Amino acid sequence: MSGPSRWDDKYRTAGLAPALRVEPLLKRYKNTIAQLSQPRTALDVAAGACHAAVYLATQGFDVTAVDCSAVGLALGQKLAEREGVSISTIEADLGIGDLPAGPWSLVCCFLYLNRDLLGPMAAILAPGGLLFYSTFNVHHLNKAPAFNPLYLLQPGELAEHFSMLDVLTLSDGDDPKENASWIAARRPA
Ligand SMILES: C[S@@+](CC[C@H](N)C(=O)[O-])C[C@H]1O[C@@H](n2cnc3c(N)ncnc32)[C@H](O)[C@@H]1O
Repeated sequence: MSGPSRWDDKYRTAGLAPALRVEPLLKRYKNTIAQLSQPRTALDVAAGACHAAVYLATQGFDVTAVDCSAVGLALGQKLAEREGVSISTIEADLGIGDLPAGPWSLVCCFLYLNRDLLGPMAAILAPGGLLFYSTFNVHHLNKAPAFNPLYLLQPGELAEHFSMLDVLTLSDGDDPKENASWIAARRPA
């Protein structure tokens, strides 16, 4: 089994999370995010159960979450309702379609690697807009040897893909103890 049905099954089994999970990268840059000017729009790419999307909605953003899993997105709507905010969701296969057109004040993507979308994620940012991205890198194979290496970042990949952005922070696979790479960056105004 692959694609949406696999993820649907995972989200169905997991159910609604007991608490909103806030991505460390978003928490770390909370003040920078708060300084983005109105109207503040955010896109959560491969949002899953939409924790990042819902968190950004609690921070005053007009948020759209896109994912191929209808079950994940439905959980996201329930999570939003529980947190007292609203989000928009789009069910789409990002392997074949384009990202929702911008400009977006903020684009985030966590734990999803589609190299064809990295450049477009930066391109749909508004001038001055912020990008937050994090996913596993090759060092993850030390912990999970069966993980498909195609979905793991190589050292230096994030800097290369996001070279058009001004970096706020970057951990790009140089440290073998870090099994994830991450970047926070701003599109030049
Ligand atoms: C590991 S989960 C991460 C979810 C969320 N970003 C998070 O951090 O909790 C990966 C997500 O990517 C989504 N996904 C995988 N392939 C996809 C595709 N081709 N199009 C859209 N979403 C996809 C899955 O449905 C799943 O929700």
